[in-house]
Amino acid sequence: MLKYYIKTFGCQMNESDSERIASFLESQKIKPAKDINKADIVIFNTCGIRQMAEDRAYGQIHNIHVTRNMKPAYRTGRHETKKPIIILTGCLANRKDVQRKLKDKVDLFCEIKDFQEKMGEFINCHPELVSGSTKTEMPKQVRHDNYLCTTPRYTNPHTAYVPIMTGCNNFCSYCVVPYARGREVSRPIEEIILEIKNLLKNGCKEIVLLGQNVNSYHGACNMKHETKKINFAELLQLIEKIPGHFWISFMSSHPKDFSGELIETITKSKKICEHIHLPLQAGDDKILLAMNRKYTAEKYFKLIKKIKSAFAKNKPNEIYSITTDIIVGFPGETKKQFLESARVMKKVDYDLVYFGQFSPRPGTVAFKMKDNVSKDEKKKREFFLNEILKKTAFKNNQKHIGKILEVLIDKKDGPNYFGRTHSLKNVKIHLTPTLSLSRRGSLVGKFVKVKIIKSNIWNLEAQIIK
Ligand code: SAM
Ligand code: SF4
Ligand code: F3S
Repeated sequence: MLKYYIKTFGCQMNESDSERIASFLESQKIKPAKDINKADIVIFNTCGIRQMAEDRAYGQIHNIHVTRNMKPAYRTGRHETKKPIIILTGCLANRKDVQRKLKDKVDLFCEIKDFQEKMGEFINCHPELVSGSTKTEMPKQVRHDNYLCTTPRYTNPHTAYVPIMTGCNNFCSYCVVPYARGREVSRPIEEIILEIKNLLKNGCKEIVLLGQNVNSYHGACNMKHETKKINFAELLQLIEKIPGHFWISFMSSHPKDFSGELIETITKSKKICEHIHLPLQAGDDKILLAMNRKYTAEKYFKLIKKIKSAFAKNKPNEIYSITTDIIVGFPGETKKQFLESARVMKKVDYDLVYFGQFSPRPGTVAFKMKDNVSKDEKKKREFFLNEILKKTAFKNNQKHIGKILEVLIDKKDGPNYFGRTHSLKNVKIHLTPTLSLSRRGSLVGKFVKVKIIKSNIWNLEAQIIK
């Protein structure tokens, strides 16, 4: 029996894509391998957002290549001397420099959108990949335009990723995504709703809508013999109407597409998590312009104020969280300009920030700019901002103490459960001696009511209440 192993790098979108690759391979009777060294097909689903992500993939591809050449007969089974096939997909797959660099190590490069077609062709051209009595067949219907219609093999039955769109039209000057994933494509509304309904039927508790810019979603909706385009706020409203107790979260949003209608929809909803991830990238207007972000720091801050007042008006008793992405050391960023990012951070009071030290990406506009902030200085700037974040995150977490909140349990580790609040704060849950043993064993994937007893910088601690 043929086995596959998928190594995933990068963001949730890649994780979700790997779930689709898995379901396609399994539909071809190829089974998952627990150990990369036991697989007949190894798939690297890559990320190119920063050099570090690229290097991690090169390292692992090199390792598996060395292993397969040193030990041609390490596998037991039908084909003692056969070597595993190495496939590279994801956000590095169409880069010509990457293909040149890895041409001796990788058997097939294919973009994620072509995965089924290319993989099908590849299998047919390699009879050794046809497993025993089971003839591998090309899928009958391959939708080249929308690989997202493949039903994934969900990794987590309680929290499921549902991509609503892929690609990006924004061309921020530092970013590789529009080149790696192409232009924006939104999934038709019926397909999304059907996937969500099926997930809920199977016990899913949290739907995470994914896209490089979820809020520029524009999906087709067939209504009474005519096709209408639906925007992201309307999509959320339709998902909200699906019966059942479940949470809706999403990422990532672009500030320029964050409409008033979307703010009202989020802050008036019962199911949408009270959490907004709004990438800032930089606090200085000249840097924002050079980044091609299409907003100023003032405009961004006004949007944050609007979001905060909508929460205060529509959900006065709920705690919400706001997170962001910030790049440090963009080409030409002076100390003074960098301090503008610090200024916005202090004004917004973020709950979490994902920092990225600028990494020049081949093919992007910023690649041609002089990467003149040293590695050391980038590290210092990130450290400086992180110290601000530690203060605001701790301050925000303190607001939770004594509150009774609903938590979705993600996992159990040792004597504790770990989960998240509806504002997506991580919670460590202590078991009380009074909690019955039968309940302790069955809480993963369940909603429980907890009392917050402690707040730390990066998480909360709680006790389950009966
Ligand atoms: N679409 C989202 C937005 O509008 O901001 C971001 C998606 S991108 C996959 C995730 C994050 O990676 C970005 O927000 C940015 O902070 C970071 N990033 C992208 N390119 C980068 C680069 N060349 N160097 C450092 N960080 C980068
Ligand atoms: Fe990259 Fe900008 Fe598109 Fe986000 S909006 S994926 S940062 S190009
Ligand atoms: Fe990386 Fe591609 Fe995601 S570049 S961050 S895997 S969209």
